[in-house]
Parts: sequence; structure tokens; C-alpha cells
Amino acid sequence: MKIDILTLFPEMFDGVFSHSIIKRAKEKGLAGIRLFNIRDWCTGKHKTVDDYAFGGGAGMVMMIEPISRCIEELSKKTKYDQVIYLTPDGELLDQKMANKLSLSENLLILCGHYKGIDERIREHFITLEISIGDYVLSGGELAAAVLTDTLVRLLPGVLNDETSALSDSFQDNLLSPPVYTRPYEFRGWKVPDILLSGNDREIAKWKHDQSLDRTRQRRPGLLEK
Ligand code: ADE
Repeated sequence: MKIDILTLFPEMFDGVFSHSIIKRAKEKGLAGIRLFNIRDWCTGKHKTVDDYAFGGGAGMVMMIEPISRCIEELSKKTKYDQVIYLTPDGELLDQKMANKLSLSENLLILCGHYKGIDERIREHFITLEISIGDYVLSGGELAAAVLTDTLVRLLPGVLNDETSALSDSFQDNLLSPPVYTRPYEFRGWKVPDILLSGNDREIAKWKHDQSLDRTRQRRPGLLEK
């Protein structure tokens, strides 16, 4: 999968994309992530990216010209499955959407800033608008990093144990069961004995029951899905 990210702050991704799973996915050639600075498509001495909103109101709006130039130039070389804009008023990201999107070959992700982007970009260039939650971030970059991480870990071969993404929370609309490791006992707090029983069937049943209990208690809404 190739993910191209358009941003005013490419440096914000440095840490996130150079560690752990995403780093490994890039090294194995399973994910290609490219960052493009929207400012490189700005013209004029000041390379202006934003302007005051027509009709007034607080906050600057990202202008259509640099973004349209950038999207059109990149789209000539790459056929994108989706051109995504991250915004609090987009469709809420969940595991189902992530699973579906992870089948894409090429994605373009636009990160907005300031008060938003000129609506005409959304109308004419964007094919999918995504929110990562009902709260407002100061820009789309953190949301783009969240989306990228969610997608990359689903790509075949990225996780060591192929099944581990399948047993993630939310994959069956269930939260994951608790997990334990050594020591068996710490300050008198013991690991549930069933996990040491060696009985795979009973262990699987215990894990499923725990998942169900947890989901019922913490996220009952998931069970209705
Ligand atoms: N940009 C600002 N807030 C956001 C959110 N909650 N989701 C996606 N993009 C955003």
C-alpha cells in the first residue's frame, strides 16, 4: 500500500513513522509513505497557503490553489483509490472502515489546518472525509498518523503473527480479553489459573467470555452492531 500525505508540517510525522510497526512495514516494502509539503505548491514571494474567510469569522482558511495544484500533479502519476480529508465532521473511523480501506493500493491523505480548507476542495477533490473522534485537534496531522498506523498494521505480513491483527479489539465488535505475562504472582496478585492449565479449548472459551464481559461492561453499544 502506498500512502501519500499532504501537510504543512511534514516534520510532525518524523517520530511516528520511524519506529516500531510502521518502520518495519516500510523496511519490508509493504507500506510506502510519502510526505508532501503543501507549501511547495504555493506561489509568490510569501508562499501564502491561507487567507481570511469570506463573510468574516475567526480563523484563516486554507486556499484552494496550492492544494488543487498539488493533488492534480500527484494524481497524474498515481491513481488514488481515495483522496481523504481528515476533519472532525467526517465519517467516524472504526475498525470496519479501517479493514475496508486497508485493501486500497494508493491513498492520498490531506491534512487541514487553521479554520479548515476552502469548501470547494472538499466538493471537487476529496472522495472520503474521515474523523478520528468527536473532539477537535489543531490539525489533521495527528489524525493522519492515527489513520496510517491503523491501516499499515492490517497489511498482510506487517505483524509478526499474522493472526494478531485479527484478534485485536473491535475485529468482532468485541474488546480484547486481558493478557498476562511473568511473574505468575506479584504482591499476591496472581494470573488466572486457567491460563496456565494447558487446556487450549478452555483457555479459548475463557478469553471469549472475558471479551464478552468486558464489552458488555465498557462498550455495550458494540454488541448491538
Ligand atoms: N482534524 C481536527 N480534528 C480532527 C478529528 N477529530 N478527526 C480528524 N481530523 C481532525
